[in-house]
Amino acid sequence: MIARKSAAGSVLILLASLLLAVASGRADSDPADAVRGRRLYREGIGDDGRSVVALGGTAGLPLPPAFSACIHCHGDDGRGKTEAGRTVPAIRGETLDVPYASTLADGRRRSPYKAASFFTALTQGLDSSGHPLDATMPRYHLSEKEAADLLTYLKTIGLRSDEGVTDDTIRIGFLKTADPVQAENTRLDRQVIAACFADINQGGGIHRRKIELQDVDAQAADSPPVLLLLTDALATTTPVPVHVPVLCATTEERRDEESLVFSLFPGATERARALINYATAHGLGEPIIIRADVSDDTLKDWRDAGVKAVLLSSCAGGGLTDFGDRARALGWNPWQLWLEHPPVMVTDARALTVEAVSLSMISADALADYRRWATLHNLPAGDLRRQLSMVSLVRLLGEALKGAGHELSRAKLVTTLEAERSFQTGFTLPLGFSSRRHTATNGIYVVPLAASAMMPLSEWVSIE
Ligand code: HEC
Repeated sequence: MIARKSAAGSVLILLASLLLAVASGRADSDPADAVRGRRLYREGIGDDGRSVVALGGTAGLPLPPAFSACIHCHGDDGRGKTEAGRTVPAIRGETLDVPYASTLADGRRRSPYKAASFFTALTQGLDSSGHPLDATMPRYHLSEKEAADLLTYLKTIGLRSDEGVTDDTIRIGFLKTADPVQAENTRLDRQVIAACFADINQGGGIHRRKIELQDVDAQAADSPPVLLLLTDALATTTPVPVHVPVLCATTEERRDEESLVFSLFPGATERARALINYATAHGLGEPIIIRADVSDDTLKDWRDAGVKAVLLSSCAGGGLTDFGDRARALGWNPWQLWLEHPPVMVTDARALTVEAVSLSMISADALADYRRWATLHNLPAGDLRRQLSMVSLVRLLGEALKGAGHELSRAKLVTTLEAERSFQTGFTLPLGFSSRRHTATNGIYVVPLAASAMMPLSEWVSIE
């Protein structure tokens, strides 16, 4: 008798151990507070996941949910604005709690805000000196915790000079991985990114600012950049400053609605889901997950049970690259679905893997152009798919930096990324995000590992 768990369920268990390090590595303080505050500020959604109640105007009527978010009046970076002669004050952290009394646009003076007075301002419409606020500022039904989270968020919006932006530079961080296995890949990624930035700068920069690439390591949180580029999930085991948005190729961080992490491609869990979908769609049944320490007896059991497909990962212990030989020695030849390209050549005709960038889907001209450009920049010949995904990353970043405008801030950059709907990189499918979804593509290519493959060259499989 063999127990067959649901494939999707056990994939999650298998991956959980791989990913734990990722989850626990990020951030030293609790980023969740600022993240909840951000959601309230930008979307007007409270802790219970619903729109907050906001009573506005002299009649104190409830505002429609679409208008209750602070962002509508105080602006996407908390700097406030003046519209039709009326001033909405700035409420960024540095404005609210300067250690002296402030004079507002209308000449009114008030003391610095503390957690309690901030809560009173939001719920009762009294400023930090007890002065009633104009009825345009709604009265909110909020908990003290929600108000505190908002304040935490407003502090992270930060000063412009803290955001890695000066009059003539935009500082973009590059997170170096401490993982020696990844070191070579990361070096290549950095070279490609630096070459792209050199091109942008030569062309006059973005809004006349040059882009600087700053190497960031775990300790360098004091002068954080506008945005961090990461190359892959493994790199996120290094903690990064919580309020700095992150753009990376893949990540396991899937708290889309809350996080500041944006990724181009699905992470390992989703790749596994795509492979499972693929197996099901091709009549291969539910794939069995093969662990590095699987015994021949277990393999025989699966053979006898007629299992047609197995899911393998070269990350999980690495000892699976001889799987094909072992299975064949037992008279079994299942489809091998690899979660990533194995480190050694696998030539089985039934071995498949997933790729975010599929070279066979890119035109020969585009590839030739890229190669010429790479030679011009003295880039090594290494992993082409990887290089192209880095170029795509930078193209998307460039687009977002342009879109965010000259008054650049992290908040604006995040909003601009979230508004990106279908950006053409030239090498990937169109990329798009929303405030709820921070993974730019919703599927992945399934490709054969060997030229002698039995399956079509490349097939797009959705992770939905
Ligand atoms: C419909 C527009 C509008 C919305 C939405 C709004 N505000 Fe205001 N807010 C104002 C206006 C206008 C003022 C200035 C009132 C005055 O000066 O009397 C103000 C004042 C404030 C003040 C007092 C600032 C000071 O210096 O004393 C705080 C704090 C504040 N808002 C926070 C928020 C937060 C947090 C949210 C979201 C939960 C929010 N506001 C949503 C319009 C708005």
